[in-house]
Amino acid sequence: MDMEIETPDQTDMNECISDPINREPQRIRRLDEAVVNRIAAGEVIQRPVSAVKELVENSIDADSTSISVIIKDGGLKLIQVSDDGHGIRYEDLPILCERHTTSKLSKFEDFLSIKSMGFRGEALASMTYVGHVTVTTITEGQLHGYR
Ligand SMILES: Nc1ncnc2c1ncn2[C@@H]1O[C@H](COP(=O)(O)OP(=O)(O)O)[C@@H](O)[C@H]1O
Ligand SMILES: [Mg+2]
Repeated sequence: MDMEIETPDQTDMNECISDPINREPQRIRRLDEAVVNRIAAGEVIQRPVSAVKELVENSIDADSTSISVIIKDGGLKLIQVSDDGHGIRYEDLPILCERHTTSKLSKFEDFLSIKSMGFRGEALASMTYVGHVTVTTITEGQLHGYR
């Protein structure tokens, strides 16, 4: 097999290097937390259907036997997912929609035996950055639920 490697002459090389004197580098700044959260939310919720997928996965993870989905205007007006799963504890509601809060994983080793569809604790938080989120839940044995 014959292989020929051509060395570019000096004039070609000069064309590739931009003039460093005329280009001041932009300053590097730390992004605000709100911007970081919105960028991360965009990775989880790219389209309304991504939110439907995340919510249905949560319902399945909650051992639901029945899941209902109501969509209005392609998900732009309303996405409502209801299930008959185990619900959410009252004490957990304050951190429910914060990033990286989950009931499905607590330590790194748990990764080795993941049995749930979600575990990153990012879906609900992401939804709060791209829409209005209302959670209504009741757990077994309770007389009333919470919203
Ligand atoms: N439909 C649901 N039924 C019961 N618990 C839920 C439901 N949706 C969410 N949760 C609870 O909220 C937590 C956060 O949900 P989410 O942000 O989707 O993260 P993840 O599913 O990765 O844990 C879940 O870990 C779960 O404990
Ligand atoms: Mg989830």
